[in-house]
Amino acid sequence: MKLFGVLGDPVSHSLSPIMHNAAFKALGMDCEYHAFRVSPESLHDAIHGAHALGFGGLNLTIPLKEKALEIVEPTDMAKQIGAVNTVDFKVGIVGYNTDGLGAKMALKDNGVEIKGKNVLLLGAGGAARAIAFQLVSDGASVTIANRTPGRAISLAKEVSRMGKASAGDIRNLKNLIQNSDILINSTSIGMFPKVSESIVTSDMIHRNLVVFDIVYNPQNTQLLREAKKAGAKTIDGVMMLVYQGAEAFKIWTGQNPPLDVMEKAVREKLA
Ligand SMILES: NC(=O)c1ccc[n+]([C@@H]2O[C@H](COP(=O)([O-])OP(=O)(O)OC[C@H]3O[C@@H](n4cnc5c(N)ncnc54)[C@H](OP(=O)(O)O)[C@@H]3O)[C@@H](O)[C@H]2O)c1
Repeated sequence: MKLFGVLGDPVSHSLSPIMHNAAFKALGMDCEYHAFRVSPESLHDAIHGAHALGFGGLNLTIPLKEKALEIVEPTDMAKQIGAVNTVDFKVGIVGYNTDGLGAKMALKDNGVEIKGKNVLLLGAGGAARAIAFQLVSDGASVTIANRTPGRAISLAKEVSRMGKASAGDIRNLKNLIQNSDILINSTSIGMFPKVSESIVTSDMIHRNLVVFDIVYNPQNTQLLREAKKAGAKTIDGVMMLVYQGAEAFKIWTGQNPPLDVMEKAVREKLA
């Protein structure tokens, strides 16, 4: 039997074990995926221990994604993003970041074209970094707005080396949204337990906007409710979670996992 795991602290809330175990079961693979609580101080030993024990692969979550860069050999994309969420042991210990691909695939899955589009990205944390680098490399023009403006400015500067990126003033949200095709919330606003929070209201949203909230707990966030009220197309955070997991699954096993099985497992748990 092959073991896989997610390391983090806290980690008991992670949906990755349910999602990956459902995929392994559906494919009849002799594999199990578990959550392990690991502190940043123990991360080096945990990753090397999993390698020595013959694990098939790992995911990393808060607060370990940045620390892992010093421990694994990161891909160029993981290095640029500054965080690792997937570790593979086939050839050495390689660190990937599949969050940006997860967001890209969630948009594609909903028939949303990225190339040439104006994207307003709210947030400048770990997830926002992954999404910004990915979408700019796919030809979008990305405006980043964040509560702490300095973080948006420095992220925009880094990302603009790869394509079109700039920082926007979050106090000027309505204007920024008017000039956008796609709005992505990559802040934690609206996440459980503060489920009634949104800094974007329906009066700021136009009907041609695509509103993608990467927060997946709850699935129907206040932002998505505001967007629906305005008649805009909405995408919730579940498919990004599924696609980033599916990318990790492919890296580890070389197999395409059943996306519908993974999505069902996640949605049932969140319902
Ligand atoms: N669907 C998926 O697959 C997926 C993947 C990754 C993350 N997520 C979700 O994405 C969210 C962000 O994750 P992360 O890892 O990027 O977190 P993070 O690194 O801690 O970044 C949090 C971001 O949210 C902003 N923020 C937090 N509270 C705010 C508030 N009250 N008002 C305005 N801005 C606020 C922060 O702004 P400052 O810079 O000013 O602090 C920062 O930009 C979480 O809800 C997470 O669950 C979903």
